[in-house]
Amino acid sequence: MTNIHQQLLTRPTFVEVDFGKVRHNFNEIQKLVPGKKVLCVVKGNAYGHGAVPMGKLFESLGADYLGVAIPEEGVELRLSGITIPILVLSAIADKQIPVCIEHDLTITAPSDEKLEQIDLAAQQAGKRAIVHLKIDTGMGRIGVNWERVSKFIPVMEKCKHTDFEGLYSHFACSDEEGGVTHIQIERFNHAIKIFQDAGYDFSIKHIANSGGILFYPESHFDMVRAGMVLYGLFEGRSLPSGVTLEPAMSWKTEVVYFKYIEAGTGIGYGHNYIAKTATRIVTLPVGYADGYQRAMGPHGKVIIRDTMYPIAGRICMDQMMVNISRFGESYKGDEVILVGSSKSHSITFFDIAAWSDTSIYELLSQISSRVPRIYKNQN
Ligand SMILES: Cc1ncc(COP(=O)(O)O)c(C=O)c1O
Repeated sequence: MTNIHQQLLTRPTFVEVDFGKVRHNFNEIQKLVPGKKVLCVVKGNAYGHGAVPMGKLFESLGADYLGVAIPEEGVELRLSGITIPILVLSAIADKQIPVCIEHDLTITAPSDEKLEQIDLAAQQAGKRAIVHLKIDTGMGRIGVNWERVSKFIPVMEKCKHTDFEGLYSHFACSDEEGGVTHIQIERFNHAIKIFQDAGYDFSIKHIANSGGILFYPESHFDMVRAGMVLYGLFEGRSLPSGVTLEPAMSWKTEVVYFKYIEAGTGIGYGHNYIAKTATRIVTLPVGYADGYQRAMGPHGKVIIRDTMYPIAGRICMDQMMVNISRFGESYKGDEVILVGSSKSHSITFFDIAAWSDTSIYELLSQISSRVPRIYKNQN
C-alpha cells in the first residue's frame, strides 16, 4: 500500500518522524488519565505522520482504540494487520456502512435514522455492528442534540444486530480557558443519565480530546481521544505543570540549484521579489504541492548551515527560491531545515502556521503523499 515516494525514498525533501518522541507523548497522556482507555487519533494520515506506522506504534504501546475519520482510513489500517478496535469518527454515507461491518470498524451513529441503517446492514451481512452513539453537546457538527437524545431509545430497542458499546460527544473550545467546555460536560452527564434511566449503560463514554485530556480531568470518563498531543504539539494554552510534549516531526530538504543575480533581477512568478542588490539565490525542491503553503512566501524562512534565510518570491507548486544574501555560503547538496532545529536556530510548525495564517492541524494534514516519511528510533 505504500506509495512510490515512500518506496523509493530518494527524494531529498522528506519529513522525519521520531518514534521516541511519540512514545514519550503517549506516556505523558497515560500518566494524565490513569485507569482510563486511550483512543489514539490517526485520521488525516495520523496528522501527516503516517497512519500505518503510527497506528502500529500505538497498538504496540497498548492503545485501546484507534480513531479514523472515514472508513477507508480504517480499512487501510486493517489491511496492514492492525487488530485493535478502530472507531470511525465522522458521519458516513449509507453505502459505507457494509465496509465498516466487513472490516470490524466501530461505527458512529450520529442520528436515529443512521442507527436504523446500521442495524439493517448488520442483519444483511449476518454480523453484529458495534456502534458509538454521537450526541451534540455544543460542537454543532454531528450528533443528536443533547436535549433530544431520548429519540435514540425507541430505535435502540428495535435494533437486534447492534452492540451499543459507546456514547460520545466532542468539545468545541477545550483548548481555551473559559468557553463552553464545563457546560458541554454537564450536558454530556445529563444525556448519560437519560440513557441510564432507560436501562442503557454504555461501557465506553468519552468526550475528551487533547484540551480535555490536559485541562479537564472531569471529562475523562471511560476513554479519552488523543490527537495532536500524541504528535507533541498543542496550541492555545501553556501545558499543565509537569507535562512535557515533544514535537515528533521535522521537515527537511536540500539545495538543488545555486546562482548569482544582479540588482534589479526579478525572482519567480509575478516577479514579486526584485533583488535590491546583487545577491545569491538557491532553489529548493519543495512547494505547495508538498503542503509547503504558498501563503508562507512573504514571511517564510529556512535554515541552511545554521543561518536563517528568507524565501525570495512566490512559492511555486514544486520549488521555491531562497535569498542567501550577497556573501552567504551554500552549495548544492546542503541540508535545508524547513521545520526543526540547528545549533542556533529553530523553526516550529507554529511558526510556519503563523506565516501562512493557518492552524497546525491544517498544515500537518496537508503535507502531501509525495513527501516521504522517514522514521527514526523505531526500536
Ligand atoms: C471526534 C474527534 N475526536 C478527537 C479528536 C482529536 O482532537 P485533538 O487533536 O485536538 O486531540 C478529533 C480531531 O479533530 C475529533 O474530530
